[in-house]
Amino acid sequence: MKSHSTLVSVLLLHLWLFIGSIESTNAPTVDMANNGSRPVVLVTNKETPLKGIQKLQLKCDVIFPSTHPATREEILKLAGQVDGIMWVGHMALNGEVLDRGGSRLKAISTMSAGMDYVDVEEFKRRKFPLGYTPIVLNDAVADTAVGLMIAASRRFHEGRLAIDHSQWIGGPQWMLGRDIKGSTVGIIGFGGIGQTVARRLKGFEIGQLLYSGRRPKPEAEALGAKLVPQSELLQESDYVVLAVPLTKETYHMINETTLSLMKPTAVLVNVARGDLVDQLALVAALKNGTIFAAGLDVVTPEPLPADDELLKLPNAFVIPHLGSATVQTRDNMAEIAALNVLSGIAGAPMFSPYPY
Ligand SMILES: *[C@@H]1O[C@H](CO)[C@@H](O)[C@H](O)[C@H]1NC(C)=O
Ligand SMILES: *[C@@H]1O[C@H](CO)[C@@H](O)[C@H](O)[C@H]1NC(C)=O
Ligand SMILES: *[C@@H]1O[C@H](CO)[C@@H](O)[C@H](O)[C@H]1NC(C)=O
Repeated sequence: MKSHSTLVSVLLLHLWLFIGSIESTNAPTVDMANNGSRPVVLVTNKETPLKGIQKLQLKCDVIFPSTHPATREEILKLAGQVDGIMWVGHMALNGEVLDRGGSRLKAISTMSAGMDYVDVEEFKRRKFPLGYTPIVLNDAVADTAVGLMIAASRRFHEGRLAIDHSQWIGGPQWMLGRDIKGSTVGIIGFGGIGQTVARRLKGFEIGQLLYSGRRPKPEAEALGAKLVPQSELLQESDYVVLAVPLTKETYHMINETTLSLMKPTAVLVNVARGDLVDQLALVAALKNGTIFAAGLDVVTPEPLPADDELLKLPNAFVIPHLGSATVQTRDNMAEIAALNVLSGIAGAPMFSPYPY
């Protein structure tokens, strides 16, 4: 079911990109505004993939902050001089930006799926067009989740440290990890990313798939996933994968209490947001064997200082928020964000509006 709807979304996306390119080659100079001048779009990060920038430039003039990374002050200043903003990065996006944008600013799209840094309520209150880029990153992030499951459970980091310290010992009892085959995997947050992880895991012959969330997901049955209360998921799972948005309700959902429910052989994987986890409690749990290992793409804070205690733990496999970091995925995200901004400026429905 879900793979079907994902397929439909992807096809729609391609159709949309295709139509967009025909339109733009036929009429590259047609302005969206009827007063003869082209709209102006601020892209808040100079390193945004060209695919997206070029899409914008077909119909708009694009400006960037002078600095990289940009200061909030400069972004706020420029917000008042543009018709649309492509908001790239996790800087707070709130009423202040809309106020500074004033009456000229008509649309904003982020280039992310998680919207925890956006004051969505404020956009909703003002009915202000807001876009984001979910779905296209599901595959890349799900791949990362599976990679982290393997890396953490098979002690990749600890093994590498042993080599570095001339402690490669070997032998039948050395550096043994945990299997994925036959295991119980619990996915907290069974949305697009969680379900994509589940599809990936079909090839691993896992024993049982559990998920928790606010309501049953229609796609779960086809994926063989069973809805259970979060506490049961934590108690039963050999792998706990966090794929849930960060909200007031999910902040520190993994804490001393919930970690203590997990099996001492369990592996925690986080590809969502660092603040889902009380990181001090996680460090304690990894140190004293409350759980076996963790594979983390997201941490608190980001960037994580090199001397953070988490990085000293052999059973924490940590990577620097690389979930969606592939050439193709970032290109797709930039193009969708650009399409969102273009539609928003034209007063049309966005390709991927945030459903506030
Ligand atoms: C022309 O339209 C653009 C796009 O809406 C707007 O940004 C600009 O301020 C307008 N210029 C004038 C002189 O009205
Ligand atoms: C730990 O997380 C659970 C839910 O995941 C929550 O109910 C509980 O209040 C949290 N406890 C603390 C101390 O944060
Ligand atoms: C490990 O440390 C945590 C946090 O201090 C504590 O709650 C837990 O009981 C400890 N577990 C063991 C096995 O020592």
